[in-house]
Amino acid sequence: MQNELNLSETIPFLNLLSVLREQKEIDMPDMVASAFQSITVQWDNRVAKEALDQLFVDAAARVPKGGRVLDAGSGTGLRIPQIREHFQPESITGIDRSSAILNRARESRYGAFFTKGDICEMPFDDETFDVVVCTWVVETLENPKAAIEECLRVLKSGGILAYCYVNLPHEFKAGETLAASALTSLEKATREQELLGNRKVAYSDSEFFHTKRYHQGLISTVLLGKCCEVEPYMLPVGRLL
Ligand SMILES: C[S@@+](CC[C@H](N)C(=O)[O-])C[C@H]1O[C@@H](n2cnc3c(N)ncnc32)[C@H](O)[C@@H]1O
Repeated sequence: MQNELNLSETIPFLNLLSVLREQKEIDMPDMVASAFQSITVQWDNRVAKEALDQLFVDAAARVPKGGRVLDAGSGTGLRIPQIREHFQPESITGIDRSSAILNRARESRYGAFFTKGDICEMPFDDETFDVVVCTWVVETLENPKAAIEECLRVLKSGGILAYCYVNLPHEFKAGETLAASALTSLEKATREQELLGNRKVAYSDSEFFHTKRYHQGLISTVLLGKCCEVEPYMLPVGRLL
C-alpha cells in the first residue's frame, strides 16, 4: 500500500531537478551541492522510499551477487549503501558530471570509485558492468534516450539496468505548486506506459523490461535488460519547464 502523497513535500525536489536541468555549466556551485543532498534525502525518505526500495529488491533478484556495479549520475553517493547491501558487489563505480557533487561523494567515504564524466558518453568499454543504477537523472537531461542507450552499452548481456525518474504534468513549471489535478492527468499517461511496457519476457530486442508506477505516476521505476532499441515508453512522460 502506497503512503498518501503530500504534494507540498514534492516541490523542493522537483525544483532541484529543474535547477539541474537548466544548468548550462558542467559544474554546480558548492552552495547548490550542499542543499542538494538534504533535499534528496528528504525526497527519498518521505516520498520515494517505497519506489527505491522495491527497485533495488527487484533488480537484485535478477542478477547474481558479486558483480561490477555502476551508479550513473551518482550525485553525492546516496545510493551506494543500498547498492552494497543488495548486490554485494565486487566493485562500485560512480560517475557524475559535477566536481562539487563528487567531492562530497568522496568525502563520505562510501568506498566506491567516483569519476567525473557525462552519462551520455561514458569512458567505459562496452559490456563492463553487471548492474547499472541510475536514479533521478534522466528526467533532468535534454536527451534521456541517449543516456539510457549509453547505460545499455556499458551493461553486460544478462545484466540489469535499474533506473527511476519523476514524470511531470506537461504544464508544470519550476517554482509552482504541484496540484492534485495535474497529478491525476499524469495517471493516464503513465498507466499507458506501464501497460505497454510491462513485459516480463523478451520484448522487441530487449532481454527484459518491467516498469512500476508510484504516486499516481509521479514516479516510475524501470528494470531493463540489455537491448538495442530504447522505446518512448521507457522514458519520462512530460517535462520540466
Ligand atoms: C537529482 S541528482 C540524483 C543523484 C543520485 N543518483 C541520487 O539518487 O541521489 C542528479 C545527478 O545527476 C547528475 N547529472 C546530470 N546530468 C548528468 C550528465 N549528463 N552526466 C553525468 N551526471 C549528470 C547531476 O550532477 C546530479 O548529481
